[in-house]
This record gives sequence, structure tokens and C-alpha cells, in this order.
Amino acid sequence: MLSRLSSIADAINGPILFIAATSLVMLIGITAFMVYFAWRYHRRRNPHPEDIHGHKVLEIVWTVVPTILAFGFFWYGWEGYKYIKTVPEGAMQVKVTGRMWSWLHEYQNGVQSAELYVPVNVPVKLNLESQDVLHSYYIPAFKVKQDAVPGIPDLFLWFSAFETGTYQVFCAEYCGLSHSAMWTKVHVVTQEEFDEWLRVEGEKVVQIQQAAESGEGENLHILGEALSKTKGCNACHSVDGSKLIGPTYKGLYGKTETVVTGGQEREVVVNDAYIKHSMLKPTDDIVKGFQPLMPSQEGMVNEAEIKALTAYIKSLQ
Ligand code: CUA
Repeated sequence: MLSRLSSIADAINGPILFIAATSLVMLIGITAFMVYFAWRYHRRRNPHPEDIHGHKVLEIVWTVVPTILAFGFFWYGWEGYKYIKTVPEGAMQVKVTGRMWSWLHEYQNGVQSAELYVPVNVPVKLNLESQDVLHSYYIPAFKVKQDAVPGIPDLFLWFSAFETGTYQVFCAEYCGLSHSAMWTKVHVVTQEEFDEWLRVEGEKVVQIQQAAESGEGENLHILGEALSKTKGCNACHSVDGSKLIGPTYKGLYGKTETVVTGGQEREVVVNDAYIKHSMLKPTDDIVKGFQPLMPSQEGMVNEAEIKALTAYIKSLQ
């Protein structure tokens, strides 16, 4: 409970210990008094009970002591809160977007990933955004948690991880059907390992760009497969024909689909244009039998990525 795996741990552990210790002292003290009173004022020892009215000293004591304690709790918590909300200068910035039902991490060089990678002992600031509903970024091991609220910028959390390893990240705000599946991992690695990871991922971004420009189909669908995980498509679209939140990708390309457009059913053939439109304006044509749950990917995928994802869907026949 009182582990110390990040810079935030002390700001949380301190007040918890203080409140728990104070409560324990009160519990033991009050219980002892009760037992003593029950014994001391038993009918045998105190046959004639009397009412006592007013006791200045006692009244002052039981007003002043709890007041001091309450302010003590507040002050200690407030100091911790200020620390948690003060990001050290030069912290590494990562943009985190929550959407139903996965997290996307974006690094300053444009690299995107579904799992978070951070160097050990380096302050990291996560700037949180939501693309649809309330989510909450929660790393229990680091004792950090922050809501991502649609339309509210500037929400963030920061930490510096003390030990290398892999830790769980959860969504801690009920956000719909697959809320319980909205978890990922944070990998704390050495600075060298981190630099290497970032370099390799940076190359992939360039590869997608080049493959999309040259229309190199072979490579493109493999890059598209990785993208469908990074972008969170796989949270709602299966690739084995099973029905999840959205239609499966298997056998989708080239198929004639019945969609509902503005309340009217119509048939469409799934081609490049349809897939692109479905990513950017997903609620325009809802495939019959599904709910209009997909958030628009406008601004979340670029042209090259759309091509790579389309190539991937195409390959799943
Ligand atoms: Cu996102 Cu729960």
C-alpha cells in the first residue's frame, strides 16, 4: 500500500499515514475511555447517577483539538496536491487521448503508441484529452489518476518513475460498454532503451508515409495492422468475423452492406471511399444492426494512415 515507485508516492503516502495514525490513536483512546466509564460508573460503584451541566474546559478541548486536526489533514493534503500539480521544468511531454475504449499516446516527434513508454527517473507530463466521453487515466503503481474530459484542455498529470518495469494503466471512469477493457501498460525503461524505441517508432511513421505515397500494397497492410492497434480500431472491430461493437473487418472489403443513412436503408459496396468516409464521418452511414457509437477520426488519422488501414482491411478476406 505504501510503495514508492514514483515521485508522487510521498505526496499520497504521507497524508494517508498521518490520517490513519491519527484515526488509530482516536480509536484506541475513545475505546479505552468507554471501557473505563462503563467500569467506573457501573451501578455497583456509582449507585446515584447525576446529571452534569456544562464543563468549559472539556468543551473547549473537544472543539479545539478536532479543529486543529481537521486543518492539519487539510494542510498536509493541500501541500501534496500542490506538489502533484507542479510539473518540474523540462518534463517530457506526452499527449494522451482517451476514446472508447483505448488510450493513444503521442510523443513530441509525432510517434504514436497504444502503450506508454517512459525513461526511468525522468519527469513525464501527460496532457490528457478525451475524444468522446469522460475517461480517467489511472496508474495505481505510481499513485496517479486524472480524468480526461471532452472539451476541457489543460488536464494533466505528471510523475517520475523510480524503477524500470511494466505497470498497468486503467480507465477509472465508467465510459460505456467496453470500459473494463480500456486498459494498457506503461513501460519504464532506461534512457538508452527509450531513445532506441523512439527512433524505431519514428522510422515506422516515415515508412507508412512512404508506403502510402508509393502505393506499395504489400508493406502497407502490415503497417496498417499495427496502426489498427495503435489507433484503437481493434477495440470495436474484430478480424475473425465475430461481432463486436462494430462490423468485423473480415471479408468487409468489397462486400455489399446495408446501411442506414438519415433513417433510410440503402445498400453500399465497401470500397476505399466508403471506408475513408466511415472513419471521418462514422455516423453518416450506420451499418444495419449496429449502434452509432464510433467517434469521428477526423484529425486522428492522416491520409497515409487511412490508406494503410484500408490496405489492412482489404487484406482480411
Ligand atoms: Cu474509458 Cu472507462
